[in-house]
Amino acid sequence: MTLWPQHLILVGPMGAGKSSVGRSAASFLRLPFSDTDQMVENACRMSIARVFAEKGETAFRMAETLALHRLLSIPTSVIATGGGAVTREENWEYLISSGLVVWLRVSPEESLRRTEGDTNRPLLLQGDRLDRLRELQQQRESWYRRAHRTIEADHRSVPDVTREVVALYEEWRNSLDQNAKVPV
Ligand code: S3P
Repeated sequence: MTLWPQHLILVGPMGAGKSSVGRSAASFLRLPFSDTDQMVENACRMSIARVFAEKGETAFRMAETLALHRLLSIPTSVIATGGGAVTREENWEYLISSGLVVWLRVSPEESLRRTEGDTNRPLLLQGDRLDRLRELQQQRESWYRRAHRTIEADHRSVPDVTREVVALYEEWRNSLDQNAKVPV
């Protein structure tokens, strides 16, 4: 067994399925599951939409970084991050060294389909949603590319993507255990 952190961390745009897949993968792997958005809501005692409206995006990002640090310092777990958590260099310093980072990649069209009617995503409340999602994808693509692994998640079900995530994670953990073995 390796002693360093072995979290399974899901990154990707809004509607990529990070929370649903994360929850399902955690149950497969018998690990605790956490969601940075949920942590921010609990810490601020208000919805994400209200945090943005009353405190502003900068305050939200600070709370998100704090949540991430807290989660990454607990024993191995599955963590779903908010779509913009990847955009702070400070977050990456922790993410990349705390486990396996998997990018659930979806197109802006798929994100749109999956977030339709949602009112708790403030970045999508102004202007044309698809344009906004395309713009965010362009701005963030290079950040997401830093992930250790990528899964193409367009048009795929939660169980299907979960299977692939779990397989990647188990393969990665096995490789860590192999490397940690002391030859006799
Ligand atoms: C955001 C994504 C949201 C949430 C907040 C900001 C973003 O999380 O953190 O609305 O910047 O892309 P999901 O990706 O879980 O929707």
